[in-house]
Amino acid sequence: MILVTGGTGKVGSAATRGLAGRGVPVRTLVRDPDKAAALAAAGADIAVGDFDVDASLDTAMVGVSVVVMVSPAVPDQELAVIDAAVRAGVGHLVKATSKASVDSPVGRRRGQAQIEAGLAASGLRHTLLRSNAYMQNFLALAPMIRTHNGFASSAGTGRVGLIDARDVGAVAAEIALDPQRLGGRTYWLTGPELLSYSDAATTLSAVLGHPITFQARTEDEDRAAMLAAGVPERVATDNARAFSLISEGDAAWLTDDATLVLGRSPRTFHEFVTEHSAVFDPQPRPTG
Ligand SMILES: NC(=O)c1ccc[n+]([C@@H]2O[C@H](COP(=O)([O-])OP(=O)(O)OC[C@H]3O[C@@H](n4cnc5c(N)ncnc54)[C@H](OP(=O)(O)O)[C@@H]3O)[C@@H](O)[C@H]2O)c1
Repeated sequence: MILVTGGTGKVGSAATRGLAGRGVPVRTLVRDPDKAAALAAAGADIAVGDFDVDASLDTAMVGVSVVVMVSPAVPDQELAVIDAAVRAGVGHLVKATSKASVDSPVGRRRGQAQIEAGLAASGLRHTLLRSNAYMQNFLALAPMIRTHNGFASSAGTGRVGLIDARDVGAVAAEIALDPQRLGGRTYWLTGPELLSYSDAATTLSAVLGHPITFQARTEDEDRAAMLAAGVPERVATDNARAFSLISEGDAAWLTDDATLVLGRSPRTFHEFVTEHSAVFDPQPRPTG
């Protein structure tokens, strides 16, 4: 049995669907079973639990050989999942992570480094999926794009190797299926191309059939705008810092790791926008 946490989230749902679709015994840990009805219909076993409740983690781990750990990456919560995996005698753990480092200026990356250190100290055989930014982050910009035909951030002209979170989930599923062959290393996951946010605006314009613009902001302006939009302070600070790092080249990296695992190219940003066009523009105008 493979256990996927965060089954109602972006990466976890893709991993769960990928495994269930192949007839593999998969269980997914969710807080709210109503949100997991489609995963149950796809054949996944649903374990209701919470990262903050150890007993629910122990119950979810019964009979599990591999864990795919996806969560908002709060250190105490992921460390609790790792502890439960060790107690249950799990053989391999695949962790979704980011550009973690103990001295990162981005708080959540320091948290990821703390979790990775705990995972290494646990002795559990594991694999890290160190992904570039997810294309799905653009879905959070959709209200601004719909209202203002544009979006803004402090990413400047920096380029990003955006990856579709569904491809991260697909990679996790492949590794969970064959951890002996594919596991025990760090994958640096990206999509197929480096795009600036102006490039992304050009793709959005082409797909939606009307101009979408990107406006550069300073980090302080970006943070203030996020706070004004109701984003929690810690998240706004981290996001604005991460966007500013992008302007300095922090996310301008591409690898073939996703292709090597999946045996196909990861999705392009054009494909992502096309599939989600109704979110960015509920009334698309015909092109040409
Ligand atoms: N976004 C990016 O650009 C990016 C880039 C690189 C790496 N990452 C990494 O990707 C990971 C996040 O993956 P994601 O975007 O797929 O996550 P996500 O869509 O935000 O989903 C988070 C999942 O965790 C569940 N969850 C939250 N609190 C829980 C709790 N107390 N107990 C049980 N479940 C709980 C949520 O369930 P509910 O539905 O109940 O809330 C949801 O299923 C993080 O490690 C992040 O650092 C993100």
